[in-house]
Amino acid sequence: MTTILGIESTAHTFGAGIVKDWTVKANEKAAYTTEKGGIHPVLASNYHTEKAPEVLKNALTKAGIKIEEVDAIAFSQGPGLGPCLTIGAFTARYLSLKYKKPLIGVNHCIAHLEIGRGMTKTEDPVLLYTSGANTQIIAYQEGKYRVFGETLDTGVGNMIDTFARHLGLGFPGGPKIQELASKGKKMLKAPYTIKGMDVSFSGILTHLERIKNETPEDMCFTLQETVFAMLTEASERALAHTEKNELVLGGGVACNSRLQEMTRIMCEERKAVCKTPTKEYLLDNGAMIAWQGMQQYEAITKKGKGKFLTIEKSQIKPYERTDDVEVSWR
Ligand code: ATP
Ligand code: FE2
Repeated sequence: MTTILGIESTAHTFGAGIVKDWTVKANEKAAYTTEKGGIHPVLASNYHTEKAPEVLKNALTKAGIKIEEVDAIAFSQGPGLGPCLTIGAFTARYLSLKYKKPLIGVNHCIAHLEIGRGMTKTEDPVLLYTSGANTQIIAYQEGKYRVFGETLDTGVGNMIDTFARHLGLGFPGGPKIQELASKGKKMLKAPYTIKGMDVSFSGILTHLERIKNETPEDMCFTLQETVFAMLTEASERALAHTEKNELVLGGGVACNSRLQEMTRIMCEERKAVCKTPTKEYLLDNGAMIAWQGMQQYEAITKKGKGKFLTIEKSQIKPYERTDDVEVSWR
């Protein structure tokens, strides 16, 4: 019986998840939102500081366990916003020292992929990971998670949120843009930028921001159709290149039903499987950190691969890259 507590705090969400023997027992969170304007890292980290005790308590209550029963504490070590990561790392270190529990550092992007793989019961998928700050096409090859394609500028979620801000909508913008897009009909001219498996969003963002005399509905429709087609094309190329036949979606933008539909049709046409975990596991959450913590815990305790973190080595890694991570668990 192994129980892992996972703490997430890379950006807007403070999450605490508990995984016991590969079952998610709790996945509690508090997410910082705004009515107008984007997310300020320091304000978000203040929010995390305020919410952390309550989120942790709720997770333990929901799982029906005491902190003393936890075997290890995992936390999102990077990448993410420095001030936000600091609060999660601080909380994890404090609990680790106070209750004498080993500490596990988790890469946030890999946690998105691994919870996706776990929840959709896929073996060796390509992950289309589309969140606020990140847009990457990741797959496992020769001992590492490699990035086959990625955004050359901003993450797709940030681009959508920036355009939402331009329209006077608050954060997060994705759901509001989706709602408007569903009422749009006219496809406007817009730049479509893809190079191999890499994509770029700043051109279309500037272009849309300059449009006058068109409805927000048509602009949002054009945004979604263009940007999601780029992501679908890049994913198809990655499937062909890696010769894999499973695609898993991850990250908050994957909540979008039009992106899900486009990737599903593409996969059907090439007889591949396309799966999306439930929304709870797409957005940032603590359970994915606990889940990935469990994989690393088992690699350390059963295979002698990898190490628990000492306090000295537990500093945050705001710029950690997916392909920097040693994969000890596969
Ligand atoms: P990262 O994983 O890079 O740290 P993040 O913390 O911003 O980024 P998530 O919680 O995975 O990531 O995703 C948040 C993003 O998802 C926001 O940009 C939000 O606008 C977007 N989003 C949420 N729902 C939808 C939707 N229905 N359509 C499009 N985008 C959406
Ligand atoms: Fe994320």
